[in-house]
Amino acid sequence: MSITEKESQEIIGRAELNDIEAILAIPTCDPNEVQHVVKDNADAIFSWDYSLSRPALRRLYEKAKVGQWNATTDLPWDTDVDVEAQVSADLAAAVSGLTASHYDGTPVEKWGDKEWTEFAVLQRKWSLSQFMHGEQGALLCTAKITETVPWYDAKLYASTQVVDEARHVEVFARYLDEKLGGGFQINAHLRMLLDDIINDSRWDMTYLGMQVMVEGLALAAFGNLYQFTSEPLLKQLLRYVMSDEARHVAFGVLSLQEAYSEMSDKEIKDRQEFAYEASVRMRDRFMSQEVWERMGINTRDIVPLVLNDPTREVFQQMLFSKIVPNCKKLGLLDRNDSWLRKRYEEMGVIQFENMEDTGEEYTKFALGEEMPASH
Ligand SMILES: [Fe+2]
Ligand SMILES: [Fe+2]
Repeated sequence: MSITEKESQEIIGRAELNDIEAILAIPTCDPNEVQHVVKDNADAIFSWDYSLSRPALRRLYEKAKVGQWNATTDLPWDTDVDVEAQVSADLAAAVSGLTASHYDGTPVEKWGDKEWTEFAVLQRKWSLSQFMHGEQGALLCTAKITETVPWYDAKLYASTQVVDEARHVEVFARYLDEKLGGGFQINAHLRMLLDDIINDSRWDMTYLGMQVMVEGLALAAFGNLYQFTSEPLLKQLLRYVMSDEARHVAFGVLSLQEAYSEMSDKEIKDRQEFAYEASVRMRDRFMSQEVWERMGINTRDIVPLVLNDPTREVFQQMLFSKIVPNCKKLGLLDRNDSWLRKRYEEMGVIQFENMEDTGEEYTKFALGEEMPASH
């Protein structure tokens, strides 16, 4: 059954998934804003049960302790990065750009090499900026999880993730500042999603929003950029970050499997709706409104086309290659008459459901292991 307009309105704030006006009605964030305050409505929980109750989480904790690295000394920061040359080289190797002919009849039709390169440079800065802001979201979320998760084993693990995320913010911020000459403000849709995740009072929602959805997407996006960039510093930086991220997604999957196996259908429905909302926000952010604006292009002219760009669509779908199998493993796809499965069918991403979930896959991302091939 397809979603009713009323239901859609309640969950994602619009009746139609592809309502361009509603997507663009979310104003871009002020680039000069330096602080953003969100209420985190949660209880901090002590646990007096210090016994080893969840060996899988404890194993992950041990892995995290030996998987630590130092962003200052382990990465080749003296690498010279010629941004323009690099994005051109990367674009030539990538299949994830835009289809130029798709924009005939818009101002983009007149773009030459100069404009396309400028666009690609901005797009690189924008993407890495969203990674950086997302990493700060993860830093705040895992600090929150350390407080709110009721299990001692999970608190131990979450504390290691706080350090990991600090390092991730550090490397993206430094790369943007030193190598790309600055970045972008947070994307409006990403900020909405991070606000919702932080705002929710239920501890498992922090996990679902951050560990499964945001980090699942990040892992796919990092993997894609890792495969096609030849810039040695960025490549190594991504490799190191991914070795941590895969553990983080596994932490989410392991914890939520236990929590969800005990939940009622009604409780699970709330989680399915939250997963859907998060998926839509993440898809909306990939219209990169802020980049088009910076190029002087009216987003209302271009975003409807971006939404249907065939090259773009392949890339966008790939971003869900970790999220869908992880949701399946958590039982979220098929509970309540397959509610979430139907939403993913509508979004065109259900084909990833049988790919390997990160609960199993994470050891392959450990430093020193051969990276799994890109999907
Ligand atoms: Fe991270
Ligand atoms: Fe992470």
